[in-house]
Amino acid sequence: MRISVIGCGYLGAVHAACMAELGHEVVGVDVDENKIAQLSAGRAPFFEPGLPEVLDRAIASGRLRFTTDIAEAAGASVHFVAVGTPQVVGSDAADLRFVDASFSALAAHLAPGDLVVGKSTVPVGTAARLSELVEATGASLAWNPEFLREGFAVGDTLSPDRLVYGVRAGDDAAVAALDEVYSAALAAGTPRLVTDYATAELVKVAANAFLATKISFINAMAEVAEATGADVTQLADAIGHDARIGRRFLNSGLGFGGGCLPKDIRAFMARGDELGVGESLAFLREVDAINLRRRTRVVDLVAAALDGDVAGRRIAALGLAFKPDSDDVRDSPALEVVQRLTELGAAVVATDPEAIETARRSKPDVHYAPTVEEAVDGAECIVVLTEWREYREFTPESLGRITTARRIVDARNCLDPKQWRDAGWTYSAPGRP
Ligand code: UDX
Repeated sequence: MRISVIGCGYLGAVHAACMAELGHEVVGVDVDENKIAQLSAGRAPFFEPGLPEVLDRAIASGRLRFTTDIAEAAGASVHFVAVGTPQVVGSDAADLRFVDASFSALAAHLAPGDLVVGKSTVPVGTAARLSELVEATGASLAWNPEFLREGFAVGDTLSPDRLVYGVRAGDDAAVAALDEVYSAALAAGTPRLVTDYATAELVKVAANAFLATKISFINAMAEVAEATGADVTQLADAIGHDARIGRRFLNSGLGFGGGCLPKDIRAFMARGDELGVGESLAFLREVDAINLRRRTRVVDLVAAALDGDVAGRRIAALGLAFKPDSDDVRDSPALEVVQRLTELGAAVVATDPEAIETARRSKPDVHYAPTVEEAVDGAECIVVLTEWREYREFTPESLGRITTARRIVDARNCLDPKQWRDAGWTYSAPGRP
């Protein structure tokens, strides 16, 4: 199939590359010349395992190209729109200006019979509004939310958990076109749900709201554990054995961040208020608040490890990305803790395997070091803020060889407390005695 992908950010770049990998002929369009130049040269503008290889193969095959000219979308029969919907500055609502601009620009190049497929995460009701613009050109609209996780984006796109097609009632042609796009996943047995627009839009935000709630639930239990001397990691293991609950997304620690969960729950609340169902989503206000309190808790744990005062103290911060296998620092709890400790007067040196450059762009005043060795050299306390595999594999012996620090704060509950305490370290972690 001939496919265009409008918006080559995280979602769009991965989607374009993966569609070409599946054999489709794809053109990726973005207004950012620098991004298009990088992608055209086969370079991913962000860190994502496996993406450079897929990009290389797809470009070499001649099935994938990138352009800043949206007119080149003409001739494709399916047009995916994958632009960002960030949080409006000073409000909880989603900023739809990129979505609106893309649809307006694309409309001029649509032909009757084309299918436009919205992938961006949008407030419920957006697809119905945009369908008028699309249908005026003789094309039709589907909403096909994307559930990919950073760090697993290629695998999640090629082998999704489920496919959701939000279409206008009776639009069998839209369903058939999407079936052709996703024929490989469907042949592998991927469940496919055909819904109306509103349901498809809601599936995405409901899924993210549920995941955020699961994380904040266990972090609320961490607060109770802290007041009672209980251990939240054992609690999570124990309740996670109940198949109705499940152990995944019950890792307690510094809480969630990134470009999706925080902004999506806020936009969902804002949309709920507009729809008069604000009360039904009011619990998400608590989910957000619990999540943000974890950052304060970790700052307090570091202060406690240094006998109450961080001013002038040398601290090594391991991790800046919002989660491992990503260089994304959007709403990163790790970066916020680093900044807060720095503002409190601590001499923090921060490092990360992939996210130093992205962190530097958003927080130029933080002191960064390219290696763990440099970050921990001369430190009095080490705080693990992102659970990269190489940090999870540290032992008191391996770290002890490169630092004289003997205090560690495990903000992600990714280390074994007994191992560190037995070796004479002062170990502390949120939600654990
Ligand atoms: C999320 C959704 O998982 C994905 O389906 C959606 O398409 C986009 O948003 P992503 O932002 O890539 O994906 O990250 P995710 O793996 O969900 O993690 C989000 C945050 O929650 C990270 O900061 C992570 O550290 C944190 N987290 C996750 C926890 O604190 N505890 C957990 O148990 C799981």
